Amino acid sequence: MSAADINLSDHAFWLRPPAEREHAFRLLRELDKPAFFADPEVPYMSVKGLGYHALVRHADILEASRNPEIFASGLGGATSIIDMPAEFAEYFGSMINMDDPRHARLRRIVSRAFTPKMIKQFEDDVEVAASRIVDDLLEKGSGCDFVTEVAARLPLKIICDMVGIQESDYGFVFDRSNIILGASDPEYVSDAESIGTALLTAGMELQELVQRLAADRVENPTNDLTSSLVNANIDGERLTAQELGSFFILLVVAGNETTRNAISYGMRLLTLNPDQKRSWLEDVDGRAPGAVEEIVRLASPVNYMRRKVTRDHEMNGNLYREGEKVVLYYWSANRDESVFDDSLRFDIARNPNPHVGFGGPGPHFCLGAHLARREITVMFRELLRRVPQIEAGEPERLFSSFINGTKHMECTF
Ligand code: HEM
Repeated sequence: MSAADINLSDHAFWLRPPAEREHAFRLLRELDKPAFFADPEVPYMSVKGLGYHALVRHADILEASRNPEIFASGLGGATSIIDMPAEFAEYFGSMINMDDPRHARLRRIVSRAFTPKMIKQFEDDVEVAASRIVDDLLEKGSGCDFVTEVAARLPLKIICDMVGIQESDYGFVFDRSNIILGASDPEYVSDAESIGTALLTAGMELQELVQRLAADRVENPTNDLTSSLVNANIDGERLTAQELGSFFILLVVAGNETTRNAISYGMRLLTLNPDQKRSWLEDVDGRAPGAVEEIVRLASPVNYMRRKVTRDHEMNGNLYREGEKVVLYYWSANRDESVFDDSLRFDIARNPNPHVGFGGPGPHFCLGAHLARREITVMFRELLRRVPQIEAGEPERLFSSFINGTKHMECTF
């Protein structure tokens, strides 16, 4: 393969084996300037743009993230390479797809809702939930689908509890979030022609769920996140029903799939690298912070985010013109050999580890990074202490260019 053979907009590229993907991105990182690709074909989006520059080096992603007034998230969206149609923005238009000042206002209201008391409560909930998942595993016996029975359960429960969704609705939320992030995979939407409708329906159904919840919390406030977002905070600020709905979709989608994929990928990495597993087992708590960062680096659950250039700008020797698009491939930056020694090696003691798995430095840096790190830490602490012999089989990968996901993975213990 040469760099000229690579087309990141070709859906087939994302089905290739991981080793080929590694090789392709290495070739792209070696080019003098970022490769330029035509927009991908998306069956439910009729408007096609003029293509995009693929930012694959760590230095470019840092620079673009630090300059949000030049590399904007709001002009057509950050989560889709093709400009998001207006009808999608209604459901999927929360802060991740906005620029300041709208972004800053939403982020401020939401961040204030995460009070120290609430964060402490989540942390306690994570301990209880992870311990219950391992109880169930041990009770069941010798094997399981690690993704659905372990990795997916923890973030789903934590996000739902945080928002105030009852246990009987967990399955409903799980299915809709799979559609929103896994729509291109036939397991979640069988017919490519109906992807657009499936996405809009899933968005609408989640909005309805949270709006029912919000109406209840206006009448009967509790101490969940929904209550604190619909009722005015100390500065008299609150979210409108529409803002709450979109934020909720962002939370369930961003908080679920990403953490699930990091935990699954981490399990696979430990299986493939028994020396690293032994090392972690020798000091489960002490080595957890390094191990968790290294898992997020190599898992890179979010492959990319997109930006639009607001004015002509030179960055690291290359010119980007107003109106052009750039795609920030975090997955590639996290393997950049100019930053990470032996970059494909899983090394839980890697230090420093300036990965961009949670995004680059800037206003959109992951709001849930603290919670995600906590969930991954506690889940592995429970597994390593109570089921140290657990091993993962071959992952069944999600077909997606956006999410580096695992749908199923047999495990034995
Ligand atoms: C391993 C787990 C996770 C990964 C890899 C991850 C990754 C990311 C990335 C790459 C971004 C940057 C978006 C951008 O720059 O355009 C982001 C933003 C965000 N994440 Fe996460 N995330 C994770 C867990 C979570 C969790 C658990 C939550 C919720 C509790 C969450 C909520 C958000 C939100 C709300 C944003 C948007 C922030 C903004 O635009 O200001 N994430 N995440």
